[in-house]
Amino acid sequence: MKGKFITFEGSEGCGKSTQSKLLYGYLKKKGYPVIYLREPGGVRASESIRNFLLNPKNKISPAGETLLYMAARAEVVNEIIKPALMAGKIVICDRFLDSTIAYQGYGLGIDVKLIKLMGEFATLGIKPNLTILLDLAVKKGLKHREFKKDRIEQRSLSYHERVRKGYLSLARKEPGRIKIIKLDDDMFVTQSKVREICHSIL
Ligand code: TMP
Repeated sequence: MKGKFITFEGSEGCGKSTQSKLLYGYLKKKGYPVIYLREPGGVRASESIRNFLLNPKNKISPAGETLLYMAARAEVVNEIIKPALMAGKIVICDRFLDSTIAYQGYGLGIDVKLIKLMGEFATLGIKPNLTILLDLAVKKGLKHREFKKDRIEQRSLSYHERVRKGYLSLARKEPGRIKIIKLDDDMFVTQSKVREICHSIL
C-alpha cells in the first residue's frame, strides 16, 4: 500500500476524537492528501450498524456485537480505506480493530485469537502503520460521559477498567506500532506529542 494508515484508540472520554480531528486539520493544512473516518462508521451501512450498536434500547449478545463491529469494519475498509491507501492517501481513523480486541476481547471475554482471525477477514489484512493510544484513568474519562450514555458507555466501571488494561497490554505486545500518549489537561500539549510521533512515519 502506498498510503499511510493512522488509527487512534483509547477508552471512553480519552480525547481521541478531538486529537484525531486536530491531526487531520493540521495535515490537511500542510497539503497532505488525508482523509478522516470514524469506526464504526464512515459509510452508510457502517453508520447504520453504529446506531444499532450504540442504542441502549437494543439487547445484543457478545457474539452478535463482535460480528456487527466486524461487519461495519468490512464495509468501510472495502469502500474507503483500501482504495484510499492504494491511492497513496493518509487515512486517519478514530478506532479500528484494536477496539474490538479491547472492548469485546478483554472487556467481554471473547477469544482474542478469534477476534484477530475475524479481523484479518474484515480488514483484508490491512493493518495501521501507526496507532496512537490515548491513555487516561477510566473514572476521569467516564466523567466526560455523564449525560446520555450509549449502550457501551453504560457498562460497569470494571468493564471499562478491563478495556483500558487490554489496550495497555496490546501496546506492550506491539510497541513498534502502538504508541501510548498520556492525555494532558491541555489538549494542545497532547496534540504536539501526537504530531511529533506522526511525523516519524510521514
Ligand atoms: P466512539 O463513540 O468512541 O467513536 O466509539 C463507539 C463505541 O463503540 C465506543 O464505546 C467503543 C465501542 N467499540 C467497540 O466496543 N468495539 C469496536 O470494535 C469499536 C470500533 C468500537
